[in-house]
Amino acid sequence: MHFLIWLFKLLWFLSLFCYRPPPPTAEPSFGDYSEEYDYNHPPTKLHTPGPPRLSPPLCDYDFCQHLQVPCSELRRASGCLCPGVSGPGVAPEPPSLRAIHTTETGASAHWCAPLSTVESYQLRYRPAGGDFVSGPALNSTFRLTAVTGLSPGQEYLFCIVASNWAGSSPTDDGGREHGPCRVGRTPSRQMPYAYVAAGLAAALVLLVVSALAWHFLCRRKKRFPRGARGE
Ligand SMILES: *[C@@H]1O[C@H](CO)[C@@H](O)[C@H](O)[C@H]1NC(C)=O
Repeated sequence: MHFLIWLFKLLWFLSLFCYRPPPPTAEPSFGDYSEEYDYNHPPTKLHTPGPPRLSPPLCDYDFCQHLQVPCSELRRASGCLCPGVSGPGVAPEPPSLRAIHTTETGASAHWCAPLSTVESYQLRYRPAGGDFVSGPALNSTFRLTAVTGLSPGQEYLFCIVASNWAGSSPTDDGGREHGPCRVGRTPSRQMPYAYVAAGLAAALVLLVVSALAWHFLCRRKKRFPRGARGE
């Protein structure tokens, strides 16, 4: 019995040496190279036969940087290592919509790239209870875009969609923290400052005029009290 337990422990111990990094997960860690891909500590020699080589450095690639040069180009230029991404034959994972800024009639969006091969991005938005409207297709270097023609004082669901030849990334209801969608509200139309200032000035003038008129009438009454007139 003791021997069996000992044997089991030995097998378990040996199995530790068989560990392989898991495949890329669906939930990428943005702005960071996913922990599963530790290029500084490549798998044991068992899995990488051949003479030992020095690991090239990681590419200076930012998932969230607007007009980021594609990592494949950085790799071609300097031989650096890119983070692992799914290939062009797989529909992209959803990008992470980081921020939505709204004005009365427009909105701008900032997002981060997914760990996928992306051909183009598109911002899609719909008012509460309405249909999706698609912005223009943007190439894979984009991380910022803006739309116009929104209605003031209206709630919208904004979604960023990544596409390649195999398909498009899914959208959701905007509830997920690093998800592809967010709810944003355009502010109600404000009265222009000029109108507000003109209104205040008119009120002030009216106040002064009525104060003067009141003062003038009272003085006239005092100077000519009733009954003292027409002697
Ligand atoms: C993406 O679009 C920008 C702006 O239109 C352009 O400067 C850039 O060359 C394009 N990049 C690619 C890879 O098509």
